[in-house]
Amino acid sequence: MDTMALVSVAAAVSRSRSQLFPRLLLFRKRIVSGVQPTGAIHLGNYLGAIKTWIELQNSYDTLFFIVDLHAITLPYDTQQLSKATRNTAAIYLACGVDTSKASVFVQSHVRADVELMWLLSSATPIGWLNRMIQFKEKSRKAGDENVGVALLTYPVLMASDILLYQSDLVPVGEDQKQHLELTRELAERVNYLYGGRKWKKLGGRGGAIFKVPEPLIPPAGARVMSLTDGLSKMSKSAPSDQSRINLLDPKDVIANKIKRCKTDSFSGMEFDSPERPECNNLLSIYQLISGKTKEEVAQECQDMNWGTFKTLLTDALVDHLHPIQVRHEEIISDPAYLDGVLGEGATKAAAIADATLSNVYQAMGFLYR
Ligand code: AMP
Ligand code: TRP
Repeated sequence: MDTMALVSVAAAVSRSRSQLFPRLLLFRKRIVSGVQPTGAIHLGNYLGAIKTWIELQNSYDTLFFIVDLHAITLPYDTQQLSKATRNTAAIYLACGVDTSKASVFVQSHVRADVELMWLLSSATPIGWLNRMIQFKEKSRKAGDENVGVALLTYPVLMASDILLYQSDLVPVGEDQKQHLELTRELAERVNYLYGGRKWKKLGGRGGAIFKVPEPLIPPAGARVMSLTDGLSKMSKSAPSDQSRINLLDPKDVIANKIKRCKTDSFSGMEFDSPERPECNNLLSIYQLISGKTKEEVAQECQDMNWGTFKTLLTDALVDHLHPIQVRHEEIISDPAYLDGVLGEGATKAAAIADATLSNVYQAMGFLYR
């Protein structure tokens, strides 16, 4: 059974259990995830991460943050950071994150995160960080003089984000898989070095300090590709805006981007042909946006030419994104509401975070304050 099927089964079981035993809500598994407030949130972020969150929040204890501390790992605009942070929070809510179920907060508002990162960094071999593909790619692009140490230590902060909240599962796109593997290895290493009996002797509760989290990568949508090159991933940092659909793009911009996107000269539309990465990518986007199955889409589109398919895809995108855009506008024009949501989210998150941090200090042998 694939990951999402497992999640659906787990969700159904958890739902029926919590109807029977409301108190079991307390024992729900925990999920954390976040997006950086850099550039515009695009379809890759939505289909790879945010859209998955909406289903998960019904059956898991969920924490969704805006990872502003990660956003300063490359040169950035101080005038834009707080605006982008609010905007990203408003997008979460507009996409359907429900604050009666999930905590939404800003990463930097929970101080324990950076503190834990320092403790974790003492247990992280530098070789693990040097191996990270994202570090290699981003540092090559930025050039040595522009690469801060934080770009290298970024995965330790991400591990801290996850371990601090004792997360069971982390829904992310494919590109974050290596960072999740590092998080798991680091959790196991810290549990081995400082957990178990040693910690018990110090008066702790014994056992593991951290839960070892699992990645949750959606089977479809984990890697949404660029509109101008079906072999590169859709990305905030790609120089051309034509390469991505941003969630807040107006109707005419979406239509124009789809009209001008890369196609091929084969006839008909088909999934999974290695010679047709663009065709596969656009069909997958259509499948996820329309909520149809892969088989339904394959059948519906097999005899279409590019022109007909592009009209179908544009209409589906506009219909799907329009309500999100309307809701986003409402949320962003009510700063008091948004501040309230972020304040409440940070308070809930900090309570969990402080408990973990205090355990880690204790297990690592610090003088109790
Ligand atoms: P970022 O834009 O790096 O903050 O990514 C936020 C989330 O979106 C992470 O879970 C990524 O894995 C996911 N993501 C980013 N780009 C894509 C993409 N092209 N396809 C699928 N998921 C993506
Ligand atoms: N590094 C992730 C990205 O760029 C964002 C992120 C930071 C994250 N901390 C996290 C995602 C914790 C999930 C859990 O996409």
